[in-house]
Amino acid sequence: MVVLAVETSCDETSVAVIDEERILSNVVSSQVKLHEPFGGVVPEVAARQHLRNLPQIFQRAVEEAKLDLNEIDLVAVTHGPGLIGALMVGVSFAKGLSLALEKPIVGVNHLLGHVYAAKLSFPQLEPPFLALLVSGGHTELLLFTDDPTRPELVGRTVDDAAGEAFDKVARLLQLGYPGGPAIERAARSGDPHRYHLPRAMLEKDNLDFSFSGLKTAVLYLLKDEPNANRSDVAASFQEAVVDVLVWKTLRAAELKKVKRLVLVGGVAANLRLRERLAEECSKRNYEFYVPPVELCVDNAAMIARAAIELARRGKFSDLSLNAVPYLSF
Ligand code: KG4
Ligand code: ZN
Repeated sequence: MVVLAVETSCDETSVAVIDEERILSNVVSSQVKLHEPFGGVVPEVAARQHLRNLPQIFQRAVEEAKLDLNEIDLVAVTHGPGLIGALMVGVSFAKGLSLALEKPIVGVNHLLGHVYAAKLSFPQLEPPFLALLVSGGHTELLLFTDDPTRPELVGRTVDDAAGEAFDKVARLLQLGYPGGPAIERAARSGDPHRYHLPRAMLEKDNLDFSFSGLKTAVLYLLKDEPNANRSDVAASFQEAVVDVLVWKTLRAAELKKVKRLVLVGGVAANLRLRERLAEECSKRNYEFYVPPVELCVDNAAMIARAAIELARRGKFSDLSLNAVPYLSF
């Protein structure tokens, strides 16, 4: 099965072509430079840019895959969650393609796509596994058991997503946008134990996350100490986020009795988080899977891989497919 997928849920325009064994092309065009002056993604600007980018990105993805269009068996597209205008551009494009090529279409949940980035890198990965999905919009613990397209939500953030916290704290520290990579860079030369920041909701069996108190704590710290060392604050903040993510994930694994962990989503690009979770898994003899950084951030190859799984289970869409900004599982 050859799948062409389109991803436009936020600020990356991406088209990929994969078959059941490998990625044939995965073209990603980031709009970071465009949104940088605003310190965050401007939804209307993102949608217009997807509209401008998509035909060329599509062309490149097909060329790099060295395929004829008629060799494509399935069209896949992210239909939510995400920014409504941005999603609509991708969904309309994919529906047009499905109609023109006379090939079936599958609407993919963006979060399921993130999880399937792991399957692209580790084809042997099978449920049961617990996935920690950490991105700019989501922080969720998903348990995959019988149906690999319908996970059980075992924990989630009650306020900010982990990536959102990185972005907001980077703004407080004037480190620029996007915040995650900027904090990680600054933290490299900082002391993670210099400032004691809160680790929220660590009561024994609570598997939800909260990051807004941590962000506020950084705000007050900077008010009290305007000359605080930026690298030390970044390192202390990063350590606090990583502590909570690692601790809750291990607790969830224990409670749900799973010994196979998966780390995905944009924040999974963070080296400290990757190292800490890998270390704790190895101590416990758990299997640990984390995709390479380029598959952790938004890309269409992960959407294509999730679509294969949906298609195998007969979960096709049709031309009534719509963008759903708050899509859940
Ligand atoms: O998955 P993603 O590319 O887009 C969404 O679906 O949200 O994730 C983007 C998020 C942003 O908040 C960004 O700051 C964060 O992932 N991020 C990181 C790192 N790289 C990206 N956070 C921490 N450390 C990083 N190295
Ligand atoms: Zn994402």
